[in-house]
Amino acid sequence: MLKCVSFCFFSPTGGTKKAGGIFCCEIAEKITEIDLTAQGFDGAAAEGELTVIAAPVFGGRIPQAAAERIRMLSGSGKLAVTLAVYGNRAYEDALFELNRLVSECGFQVAASAALIAEHSILPELGAGRPDEADVKEIREFAGKVEAVLKNGAPGNVAVPGNEPYKEPMSSHGIPALLEGCIKCGTCAKVCPMGAVAVGENGPVTDSGRCIFCMACVSACPGYVRVVPPQMAEMLGQKLAPFKEIRRDNEFFLP
Ligand SMILES: Cc1cc2nc3c(=O)[nH]c(=O)nc-3n(C[C@H](O)[C@H](O)[C@H](O)COP(=O)(O)O)c2cc1C
Repeated sequence: MLKCVSFCFFSPTGGTKKAGGIFCCEIAEKITEIDLTAQGFDGAAAEGELTVIAAPVFGGRIPQAAAERIRMLSGSGKLAVTLAVYGNRAYEDALFELNRLVSECGFQVAASAALIAEHSILPELGAGRPDEADVKEIREFAGKVEAVLKNGAPGNVAVPGNEPYKEPMSSHGIPALLEGCIKCGTCAKVCPMGAVAVGENGPVTDSGRCIFCMACVSACPGYVRVVPPQMAEMLGQKLAPFKEIRRDNEFFLP
């Protein structure tokens, strides 16, 4: 086991943190968390023998906000493991993009994985994941990564993906608000982008800042912040085929 890893994650609804956390707990005695999701994140120094960098997949890409925050990390030649976490549809260029980004920040990518978690917009996709079988696979991967690190400088890690990357998601709207908001301010507190302000009349969302990450929807204690019903129906139809299949985690070593 390693003594210490830094675990850097962008995780609006917790799936990325959960999947990456399984890996970190298996590989190191001590985990220093660097929460890239935190509002106003403005950089942090990674410590320990390894830096684990985990991001969710939005539209087959790394969310731009996550990319901007990863760029604030300084690698200085440190070893990194990259994890792209997605909701049982596809990860397309996301892991490739993440590896490119992390290398540009000065890290050396020692291993990578594409892992499944619940789809944060449609939780029927990837429901209950990571599950027991995923935990077993992620732990085995951690063992293999440890062996790679013991053998000295790792070689190149090839992952699927193309350049130029897929176009980022186009306009996505903002969450809708049902009757019954108690103006508790949770939505404003959890928004990674600081896009929500709660006034006398309830929450107001800045559509220019909102990245539709579902942090506010998943945290709303009254369940009144929701995916706009029309969009939920459209996505439900579009993504229906992915409810029936089980995507595999994929692991990449040098
Ligand atoms: C705006 C948006 C776009 C998404 N795009 C994809 C996608 O292209 N492919 C996929 O399989 N899952 C997609 N997902 C699901 C997330 O990748 C998945 O739920 C991830 O675990 C979310 O991370 P989090 O729980 O840390 O927020 C998307 C989710 C959101 C909110």
